[in-house]
Amino acid sequence: HLIYVLNGPNLNLLGLREPEIYGSDTLDDIAGMLEDRARELDCEIDMRQTNHEGVLVDWLHEAQAEGAKAVLLNAAAFTHTSIALLDAIRAIAVPVIEVHLSDPQAREEFRHRSYVGMAAVDEVKGMGARGYVVALEKAAAL
Ligand code: DQA
Repeated sequence: HLIYVLNGPNLNLLGLREPEIYGSDTLDDIAGMLEDRARELDCEIDMRQTNHEGVLVDWLHEAQAEGAKAVLLNAAAFTHTSIALLDAIRAIAVPVIEVHLSDPQAREEFRHRSYVGMAAVDEVKGMGARGYVVALEKAAAL
């Protein structure tokens, strides 16, 4: 089973960026954790990061074209702004699981609305890096 793991803006700085909120694991650390679990679950991971909204849209379309079983999507700040991402998730048949390291509901009000969440089949938030592994387990069980 092919699982896309797509990460949005500023997540390339994970580990350095506001570690009191996001933790000290880097995106590479998370990729390593996911690879280990993916082997056990008989899944293949394709993990990527971009700072550009349209690239995330392209990758969602690609997930469908490549026959991915599911997408784990941490759209970062675009979560709260992007109707284009909402439409892209609705445009594909591949189920998308929303992932956040922090719990946006427990933070500033401008993080409370999630366009991704309006179309995602499930969500994992507030669990830090481990949440990606939990999301992978959910994806494998779909
Ligand atoms: C985030 C939460 C978003 O509100 C924020 O803009 C991020 C990271 C998270 O993983 O907790 O960049 O998606």
